[in-house]
Amino acid sequence: MKLEGKVALVTGTSPNIGGGIVEGLVAEGAAIIAVDAVDANALDCANAVKAAGGRAIGVTCDVTDEAQVKHAVDAGLDAFGQIDILVNNAAIFNKKGVVEMSYAEWQRQTSIILDGAFLFTKYVSAGMIDRGHGVIVNIISTAGHQGEPGNIAYSTSKGALMNFTRSAAMELVGYGIRVVSMTPTATDPDEQFERGRRWGRDVTAPPGLSDAMANFAKRIPMQRLPKPSDYGRAIAFLVSDDAAMITGSDLRVDAGAVARYWAWDPRDPL
Ligand SMILES: NC(=O)c1ccc[n+]([C@@H]2O[C@H](COP(=O)([O-])OP(=O)(O)OC[C@H]3O[C@@H](n4cnc5c(N)ncnc54)[C@H](O)[C@@H]3O)[C@@H](O)[C@H]2O)c1
Repeated sequence: MKLEGKVALVTGTSPNIGGGIVEGLVAEGAAIIAVDAVDANALDCANAVKAAGGRAIGVTCDVTDEAQVKHAVDAGLDAFGQIDILVNNAAIFNKKGVVEMSYAEWQRQTSIILDGAFLFTKYVSAGMIDRGHGVIVNIISTAGHQGEPGNIAYSTSKGALMNFTRSAAMELVGYGIRVVSMTPTATDPDEQFERGRRWGRDVTAPPGLSDAMANFAKRIPMQRLPKPSDYGRAIAFLVSDDAAMITGSDLRVDAGAVARYWAWDPRDPL
């Protein structure tokens, strides 16, 4: 296993993408500090890891609150003695454009995505610097690569998070710390409900979700959407020594979405 003896702190551990990332890291032997503002998402995720024989703790924390971030990092260090891997994954969705979005909503969404990554990188990298190694992964979105109408705070902060990745990579490279990002895209909805049920939740997909996601799948070059487990395997690679020479890079796990020539539609080739 590639991550035996490593400890990973992952923020935003819902049964969707955060849960998939955690499972990908656990499959390679990592212990987990599951951090979420929602108690149940931190604790259910950690309990699922432990039920499967792994090591984990869940910590409730708002990633925008500096004192809570320090507490979460300390709780992880108290439990495991080290943090080798940080995945900044917490985010909220609020599809609004610059005209209708309030300033308070802009501040909240950009803060969760950017301040959260800043604070966790700041406090986790301190221990990584002392130990002379570590890997930090920031979760982007294809919306951070392109101009998406009606999603102003999200797409702006995801684009900024990509350059935070490059800047932090340059700043930390001399300490043996790699900083990379991974870009997911519209995600196959089924796995999150299956994972939620495995976590003991009574969940079913809302009506219309499958049809909406099927429409996304028709427009993507591979004609099918990635699953959280696809992201989990990609991140396990990125944080492993197999990726030892990769820093400041973004790995797109997007079924070809960003590479697509703008005028080409897979349903109706030019
Ligand atoms: N779902 C998609 O289609 C998609 C596509 C591209 C990128 N992404 C990115 O993947 C990541 C995970 O998305 P998801 O779909 O699993 O979302 P999700 O809503 O299922 O999970 C996000 C988690 O972050 C937590 N969170 C929100 N605000 C927080 C805060 N202030 N402090 C701590 N935790 C907080 C939520 O409680 C939740 O558990 C996000 O960074 C998102 O931008 C998602």
